[in-house]
Parts: sequence; structure tokens; C-alpha cells
Amino acid sequence: MTDDFPTDDRTEDEISKYLSLMQEIDRALYATRDINSTMLVMLEAALTHTHASMGAIGRVDGTEKIWEEIRQITSEANQSTPADRVKLAELPWFSKGLREPRVLQCTRLPALLNIPEAYTWHYIALFELEADEFVLLTLHLAHPEQLPDLEVAFLAQLNEHALVALRHAYLYKVLKDTIQEKNEFISFISHELKTPLTVIKGYADILSKGMAGEVNDEQRDYLVTIAHNVRRMSTFITDLSDQSYIETKALRLQVEANSVNEVVNEVLQSYTVTFRTRGLQVHKQIPPDIVDVWCDRLRLIQILSNLVSNAAKYTPEGGQVVIGAETNPNKWDPDGVAEVVHFWVEDTGFGISPEDQAHMFEKFYRGSDTRKLNIPGSGLGLRIAKSLTEMMGGKMWFDSQQGEGTTFHFTMPI
Ligand SMILES: Nc1ncnc2c1ncn2[C@@H]1O[C@H](COP(=O)(O)OP(=O)(O)OP(=O)(O)O)[C@@H](O)[C@H]1O
Ligand SMILES: [Mg+2]
Repeated sequence: MTDDFPTDDRTEDEISKYLSLMQEIDRALYATRDINSTMLVMLEAALTHTHASMGAIGRVDGTEKIWEEIRQITSEANQSTPADRVKLAELPWFSKGLREPRVLQCTRLPALLNIPEAYTWHYIALFELEADEFVLLTLHLAHPEQLPDLEVAFLAQLNEHALVALRHAYLYKVLKDTIQEKNEFISFISHELKTPLTVIKGYADILSKGMAGEVNDEQRDYLVTIAHNVRRMSTFITDLSDQSYIETKALRLQVEANSVNEVVNEVLQSYTVTFRTRGLQVHKQIPPDIVDVWCDRLRLIQILSNLVSNAAKYTPEGGQVVIGAETNPNKWDPDGVAEVVHFWVEDTGFGISPEDQAHMFEKFYRGSDTRKLNIPGSGLGLRIAKSLTEMMGGKMWFDSQQGEGTTFHFTMPI
């Protein structure tokens, strides 16, 4: 196989062959972000392109002092199989300072890895992923000359490329584990907080209905404030847990045909009091015979409620809110379905500054306008609404003029 490697007096053809080989190896190294697959690609490349016919690769846990998750390829099996974990104490040559790859003799390794006794020489390379996290690669040889200088030079290049890929895969795993842990924590907290909130709300209701004795006006006002704040906390907890389900792709959708007018009426109904107390006018612009949309009913209600709630919150008294829908060819998404219902929620509110517009769908982003920051909110509503829209095959966007108003748009497949 040494044919693939350029020698000192290499021809152009040899060089280009070698470069495309390295490119091919790079592609394979980065094909998955999984550390075990990346390790295996490295071992396979090392065996395919050298005269070594057997090898092993695995993670080294420096704290536990164990070489583990070892995959090995032997000349008989010619396929990777798992090998037993090895205590580093069994490998007298092992030291974390083993930075430079080397060929050394170890008569114990064949028994530990269950390979023929004759393979006492080993090419050893140790890669540091992080403090106390390493990958150890060994290629087994019957005699040290089996690995000519040219192949050692190739292995040095392979090591260099693989180390970067291994570190990427390792960091990706750390990040994924952290996100998973965070989401599990949020699910747990959401669940634990909801129970006491339900109890608080239940007792506040009993008190305000006078079921536990007469309540005067001042006390009733306090109870209304308690109920209002319980509702706020409960919405925030639901939003947090929805966001975490969306991130872990664990959100289940129940997709069916839904009447646009029915859904919009239901949303408007639940905001009637809000609009009235905030002195806002609401108009609906939806043809009575508009086609049904294909989506999860509760999630569509959630999307519209988020947009309507924002229009109500960020529009000063005397303003107007329009909620509209019409059937349109899907010019917003060339990869989506051909026809969609285009929804919009338009307000004559504060509008959004150009700087804030760039961050509108970011998690927990609430903008920089102090008038809006004084209104309670968590900055999760839009992010969730956009994710839900996309999960159901739609798109969401907006246009806004500071001081004049904002229109949020989204589409739903029909
Ligand atoms: N219709 C709108 N007009 C003006 N600004 C808006 C409008 N809708 C959203 N914004 C701005 O975008 C920010 C993010 O909105 P989003 O709905 O995600 O969060 P929120 O309303 O602050 O809190 P919540 O999570 O309770 O909905 C808001 O804080 C506000 O600054
Ligand atoms: Mg909101």
C-alpha cells in the first residue's frame, strides 16, 4: 500500500493521490460526530494504509486508570470487535507523558487483547482530548521493521488530523450531555413546581369564593393578585418545559384538520377581558369559508396566543390589533407544501427597533426598550411559537416599524 505515499522524489501524480487519500480520510473522520465512530475510522485508516494488520483503539480514563471502550481489528476477524478493558497498571510503558508516538515491545499486551503471542511489538499513540481524557491507539507488529519510516510519517499525519476530529467529537458529546442534563433538570423542576402551584391556586379560589368565611374587598384584591401571579408562574413553567421538550425533540404533536375560524375565535375569546382592560380594539379579517389547516390544535392555539398576547402587551391604550388569515400559494417556503394558510397578527404598538429585530427569536431575549421591559414576560414566547410553527411545516417572520407597530406572520399547511 506504500504506493499511496509520496517519497522524497515524489511525482505530481503521487502527491495528488496522497492528498486525495487524506481528504477521503478527513471526510470519514468528520462524517459522524460520534467519538467511537471517529476512533474506529482512525484505526481502520491506520491498518488499511500501513503493513500493520492488527490494532486497537479506545478511551483512556486517566482518573480511573483504565483503557476502556476498546475496539480492535485483528487479521482473522478483519472487522472491529470490542475488547476487554485493560488496567493501565498492566502496561508498564504507559505514562500520560507519552506524547510522541513510538514503537515499543510489550509481551503482555497480546494476552490482554487476546491476539497471537508473536505480536509483541506495538506502535503506540496517545491523544489528549482533555485533562485526564485520552485516546490510545496501538498497532501490533511481529517485528519493528514491519512499519517502514514512510508509514510512520503517514501515521503522524493521520494522528494530526484525527486528533482534531476526536476533540470535536468529544466536545460535541460533552455539550450534548450537558444539554440533556439541563433539560432533565428543567423537566423535573417544572413538574415539582406545578404541584404546589395548583394547591396555592386551589386555596386562593376557596378563599375568594367565601367558602372559608367572609372576605372583605381588600382581602379579595389580594387574592386576585395571588391568582394572577400563580397564573404567570404557571405559564412560565409550561414555557420552560415546552422549550426543553422542543430542544430534546421529545415534543409529540397530534396533527389533524382544524377550522381556522374556530381556533381564532377561541384565542380571541380568552383575550376579550385583556383587550377590554387595556383599551384596545380588535378586528378579525378571516373569510368564513377559509380551508382547514393541518396541525396540532392546541399548539396552533399556543402560537396564536403568544402573538396575540404580545400585541396586547406591547400596544399602548387606544391601539388596534388585527388578526387575519387567508389561503395563499406557499411563496415563503420553496421546500414546503404548495398551499398554506397565511396568518398574521398586526398591532399599532411600540414596534421593534432594528437592533432588537435581529434577536427577536432568541431564547429569553426581551429587547432593550424599557417600556416593554417593565411589562412582565420571560422572552420565551416567540421562540417557542417559531419552533412549533416550523415543527408543523410552517414559517414565521415579522415586519415592524419602531413607534408605528408590528405584524407577525406565520404559515400552516392545509
Ligand atoms: N408585537 C410586538 N410589538 C413590540 N415588541 C414585541 C412584540 N412582540 C414581541 N416583542 C418584543 O419581543 C420580545 C420577545 O417576545 P416574547 O413573546 O418571546 O417574550 P415576552 O413577551 O417578553 O415574554 P413571554 O415569554 O411571556 O411571551 C418582547 O419582550 C418584546 O420586547
Ligand atoms: Mg410574549
